[in-house]
Amino acid sequence: MITNTKLETQNYDKVTVTPRFCYFTSKADNQSTLEREASYSLSRKRKFIHPKFFYDKTGSDLFEQICLLPEYYLTRTEMKILHDITNELPNYLKGNYALVELGSGSSTKTRKLLEALSSIQNQIEYYPIDISDILKDSSTSLHDEYDNLKITGIIDQYEPALEFIKHIDHQKKIIAFLGSSLGNFEPEQALEFLSSIHKCMQKNDLLLLGLDLVKDTKILEKAYNDSKGITAKFNLNLLSRINKELQASFDIKKFEHLAKFNKNQSRIEMYLRSKVNQEVYITSTGFSLKFKKDELISTEYSYKYDIPQIKEMAQKTGFNLQKMWTDKKNHFALALLSLREL
Ligand SMILES: C[S@@+](CC[C@H](N)C(=O)[O-])C[C@H]1O[C@@H](n2cnc3c(N)ncnc32)[C@H](O)[C@@H]1O
Repeated sequence: MITNTKLETQNYDKVTVTPRFCYFTSKADNQSTLEREASYSLSRKRKFIHPKFFYDKTGSDLFEQICLLPEYYLTRTEMKILHDITNELPNYLKGNYALVELGSGSSTKTRKLLEALSSIQNQIEYYPIDISDILKDSSTSLHDEYDNLKITGIIDQYEPALEFIKHIDHQKKIIAFLGSSLGNFEPEQALEFLSSIHKCMQKNDLLLLGLDLVKDTKILEKAYNDSKGITAKFNLNLLSRINKELQASFDIKKFEHLAKFNKNQSRIEMYLRSKVNQEVYITSTGFSLKFKKDELISTEYSYKYDIPQIKEMAQKTGFNLQKMWTDKKNHFALALLSLREL
């Protein structure tokens, strides 16, 4: 376990739930972060809201529903790959490992990794990292299910939490970054983020990276335009969240969800489109925002990769590719990366 209490006193409050489960919450005020960032991003010529703000309680619940949708092949496919490699993954491990997970969400896929680790070690230290409070519930479930698990959760954004990860140096670690969450970063930022992960790792540490692959546009667009409209609700919930937390006056009925594949950029682009000319007031900031009919708020990019691109990203950021797994249809890839000396 991390014994360093410097982090605790400086940036985090520590909550000890049981001797096997504690979590750290960032002292940063979420509401003022949303206020500061949304004020900036919604007053740009091209308005946007950062996708990390999707994940309040309602957003995290809606994302779990998205994962179960028939159109959302990503979760199902990555789960199947993880299931198929449970016996093979330990061949790449040298001794005992702690498991770190970036954007752990419901920790459903985590169970496959715990199964793989449990086959070669008795005790497992698990460090889930997520911006959402969902971490408390998902970690409680894991704690109750696995007697051999010691959980230290970090409820924070990826970047500051990486500082935390640096302190895990008493044993080797495998860092899982699943769900194609790297795809939410623009290409340059994705490289920077991979380099930041690299800096937190030591010899024999591993990174398990799950990435969505380019495929037929129809399949891609259906995944983000499901027939039940759950993705639309997920997207529109951003405005409800801003209404709630910043006392804003978004009329949700006057916006609509839009998701399309941009082939040139190889990314799904998700927007909220204003159906009419309108003005919205944000009480907490005292700002009013004007929207023209059909004006867009960009809410998420989700980049889709091909295998050579993944190899190139790994190469550029100082990793060696240990193994790449894909499903039969080549819809999703799981790359196991180790450190290359730079
Ligand atoms: C696309 S979901 C993936 C969840 C899970 N890993 C999976 O594969 O199903 C992204 C997760 O990362 C978290 N997340 C998103 N942006 C984040 C950020 N900037 N910092 C920390 N966590 C973030 C969300 O709360 C959510 O649980």
